[in-house]
Amino acid sequence: MKKTRKPQPWLYPVPPVLVSCQNTGPANIITLAWAGIACSEPVIVSLGIRPERHSYGIIKESGGFVVNMPMASQMEQVDTCGVISGRDHDKFKECGFTALPGNLVHAPLIAECPVNLECRVSQVIPLGSHDLFLGEVVWVHYSEEFMVDGRFDIASADPMVYAFSRYYRIAELLGRHGESIMRKR
Ligand SMILES: Cc1cc2nc3c(=O)[nH]c(=O)nc-3n(C[C@H](O)[C@H](O)[C@H](O)COP(=O)(O)O)c2cc1C
Repeated sequence: MKKTRKPQPWLYPVPPVLVSCQNTGPANIITLAWAGIACSEPVIVSLGIRPERHSYGIIKESGGFVVNMPMASQMEQVDTCGVISGRDHDKFKECGFTALPGNLVHAPLIAECPVNLECRVSQVIPLGSHDLFLGEVVWVHYSEEFMVDGRFDIASADPMVYAFSRYYRIAELLGRHGESIMRKR
């Protein structure tokens, strides 16, 4: 028996990301759960950001941001960057993160995250509570220690996911892309 509810964002789990940004002032980091890949050629990421966030103006005015993929072991920092504001906190310092310069975008990368996607804002679409930021990925940075046999090793990158206000670790490999059709051949 199904029950119904009013519309709610029950799409789960999602990857929480650390988005770093910088305009003329100090660099900042915001945790975002409403983030995803929107296109592969060009590679475009989507972010849902409330206009009242301090990071909103920084990203909109600077025209760039970096999506940093956190590890499950960085849950504390992910939560911290999502509950305090860059208006009165230095999140790089409080989280013990190291800022590294990007190639094109003014925003710094977070050195301690395995993958950093340098993005240039291509569109900002007001939707309601959040504005949808579309950003073209202009560089992918990754830490070499996560490469095993020429592939990015998800097990060592130890990704985290977010669902219903809780953080989880994912680890179990269930299969490979296309495996279901290969088995039928
Ligand atoms: C797990 C998690 C996910 C979040 N996802 C979003 C989001 O997708 N969009 C958003 O606008 N705020 C989101 N927030 C809230 C912001 O991260 C939070 O308001 C933050 O303090 C804003 O920082 P700033 O004022 O320095 O920009 C999230 C917070 C947490 C803890």
